[in-house]
Amino acid sequence: MNSSVVDAHAAAHPHATTFSSAHPPRTATQAPGRFGAAALRAAAVLWFAVTAAGQLIFAGYIAGFYGRVTLAGRPELWNKVMPHGYVSGDTFFNLVLGVHLIFAFVITLGGLLQLVPAIRRRVPALHRWTGRAYLVAAAIMAAGGLLMIWFRGGAPGDFAGNVIISFNALLILACAAAAWRHARSRRVDFHRRWALRLFVAVSGVWFFRVGLMFWIAVNRGPVGFDPETFTGPALIVLGLAAYLLPQGMVGLYFLAQQGRNARAKIAMAGGLTFLSLTMAVGVVAAAAIMWLPRM
Ligand code: HEM
Repeated sequence: MNSSVVDAHAAAHPHATTFSSAHPPRTATQAPGRFGAAALRAAAVLWFAVTAAGQLIFAGYIAGFYGRVTLAGRPELWNKVMPHGYVSGDTFFNLVLGVHLIFAFVITLGGLLQLVPAIRRRVPALHRWTGRAYLVAAAIMAAGGLLMIWFRGGAPGDFAGNVIISFNALLILACAAAAWRHARSRRVDFHRRWALRLFVAVSGVWFFRVGLMFWIAVNRGPVGFDPETFTGPALIVLGLAAYLLPQGMVGLYFLAQQGRNARAKIAMAGGLTFLSLTMAVGVVAAAAIMWLPRM
């Protein structure tokens, strides 16, 4: 309510003036709340813009590198990035990895589409169908990833790294199941929360890559890990941060958004803005070092 509306109301109803003099003026108490809500919305838009830009480049890299060399009949070129990617004669796991790469492209673009509010509002049928496809893709990614980690051998990293990424796979499956269950029982608010949790769980491997490139860029080289064996404490901390921190942020975001505490909204907006700017540095580094040169 703006101040001119409050003044007109007070003039027409003197008792309202008496009431308002016993309490702080409504405009004064509502202004920080309005500012907090606007700041939180703006921070969420900034976060989505950075995420969308970075994930579009990632999807472009998957299509522009893996898609291009595979369509040219040269899957052995996957090994320029993954030393044990294509193994001659290992048809089953070559196929698992091929499917993983196709769905990596689909899920990265699909997740961004699901988060655009205009699509949810204007074309709800599309949202429902891409949502179902997203859940299936999430399950395929998690299951294929687990198979490759525990049954193929040669995946990068050590036992701790494998356990941490497997935890992310289980998180993806749990969030997908919860988002699906709430959508089926039409509990829109719970569905929305679990869908966002699923999106950040699926984006975990992307956060990891962006975080790693941020770390390498600010340290001007690999620090705290061995780039040959892909092991070391920095990777463990980064893995935990990439998979757990976004879940914590989603929880805090919903608390701040639904609560009435203006300071909590502003603090959350500040935290989210800081993370978005950090992510933006990581996206630029990942694009420059890993993705664009291979496309
Ligand atoms: C759900 C989102 C995921 C996406 C978008 C994704 C994307 C990718 C991409 C693009 C690659 C090729 C490597 C590169 O160029 O960066 C890859 C490889 C791989 N991914 Fe995933 N992935 C996801 C989830 C997972 C999960 C949850 C696991 C494990 C549980 C996993 C395990 C693997 C493995 C083992 C490889 C082969 C790495 C190698 O041999 O060097 N992925 N993934």
